[in-house]
Amino acid sequence: MDYWYPRSMGSASLTEYEDGSLGIQGRTMDWNSPGHDFDLIAGNQYSFKVEVFQDEQTEAQMILSVAHTKDGTESYENLAFAKAKKGEWTTLEAGYVAGDFDRFVIYIETLGAPTLAYQFRNFTFTGVEAVFGSAETGSETTEVPSLKEKFQDYFAFGTAVTQNEAYNRQRMDFYASQFNIMTPGNELKPDYVLDVSASAKLAAEDECQAAVHFDRVKPLLTYAWEHGIKIHGHVLVWHQQTPEAFFHEGYNISKPLVTREVLLGRLSSYTEKIMEYLEENYPGMVVSWDVLNEAIDDQTGQLRDSKWLSIVGEDYPERAYEIARKYAPEGVQLYYNDYNTAYEPKQTGIVHLLERLLADGTVDGYGFQMHHDLSQPSVDQIRKSLERIAALPLKLRVSELDLTIPDNQEATLEKQAAKYKAIFELLLPYRDRLEAVQVWGVTDDLSWRAWGYPLLFDHNAQPKPAFYAILETLPE
Ligand code: XIL
Repeated sequence: MDYWYPRSMGSASLTEYEDGSLGIQGRTMDWNSPGHDFDLIAGNQYSFKVEVFQDEQTEAQMILSVAHTKDGTESYENLAFAKAKKGEWTTLEAGYVAGDFDRFVIYIETLGAPTLAYQFRNFTFTGVEAVFGSAETGSETTEVPSLKEKFQDYFAFGTAVTQNEAYNRQRMDFYASQFNIMTPGNELKPDYVLDVSASAKLAAEDECQAAVHFDRVKPLLTYAWEHGIKIHGHVLVWHQQTPEAFFHEGYNISKPLVTREVLLGRLSSYTEKIMEYLEENYPGMVVSWDVLNEAIDDQTGQLRDSKWLSIVGEDYPERAYEIARKYAPEGVQLYYNDYNTAYEPKQTGIVHLLERLLADGTVDGYGFQMHHDLSQPSVDQIRKSLERIAALPLKLRVSELDLTIPDNQEATLEKQAAKYKAIFELLLPYRDRLEAVQVWGVTDDLSWRAWGYPLLFDHNAQPKPAFYAILETLPE
């Protein structure tokens, strides 16, 4: 009770129950919640766990979040989600690498249940002491083989890295020992790069201008620059993680949507400024870009509904690649990136889009995201999708590989290893055109799908069976 208080409280209050759990009641907003301050160090890894209980509705969406403050500005991240069934204790659990902030408040909030009263108990908070670079098996300690070295005759080996990870030198040195190409997991997306308020000022003079900033991605770019690591840029045009303001007059969401001409003007300005900044500060480091991401609809195989489609029209992909080609430094490879390549009608839709872009001569490659699980898609479906896309004159990459499993029991980890291995057996023969294979994160707990233990290293940075299994695909 001492450490918990009702944050952004209104009239909410906390009560202590006899069994030691705490309860909150009198809430009027989803974020009226029990909060707890922690002193966290940027780049360090932590783990949080708490059980929650509610008895008012069939099911309630509960979220474990962090509110952090830097120079007086508060911002938020959701760390873990769980649906709490009526009358059942439910666990919220999350790994978190602290960002660069002055204050951290961990809190337990709801989504769509602003007045719900709930209880919580058994809160634990631990600093994780990951062992980077060596594998501990029983009493033995061995050095972890390096993926980038083992696969050097085949393709670059890469990973996604997010901003907070980049603050931890030890962690980054380990990543650098394993990977020779990295993708900022979020920080080169329009949500992070477009400077909306500065853009609004420019728009007062000329609606076709866009302003950009790079604060979030700098820690990673600086590290990569100092260590000779290449960067794959992700992403210029996407229906997600793009400020709604991008599509409105004056960058003001209460104003009407812009015209085709203005949106294409903004995209030109945006692309030009990104390319210029990167080339000026880190010449040659960014070797490729996802120009367009996830444009094909899963159900129809047609261009998905988006502001890009409705404002610019059917030719928006062609225009995006034309613009990227114009401003990208020579030799930078332009990719189209998508998920669910193994399924129809999506696969055919992707092939048609690639054929359109190939006709214009503006696309260089296709990126298979490969966010898979144990059963879906089958190895055979993956093989067929590789064959189909590889029939086109394109470079290839696996851009976002991860593979979720239902639990982390030994037997399940072995099944995961077998599927990873089967995928690598399919990939090796494409070495001539496969520029890179990139996993979408390094340690399980920091994955965007942490619930499914999808990566090659566990939360202590220890190699999992899947790590050793993919090495087995290489000749002796
Ligand atoms: C994910 C990030 O990993 C998450 O941190 C973020 O909350 C959502 O986006 N396909 C993509 C990636 O192209 O940009 C997505 O990354 C994962 C799916």
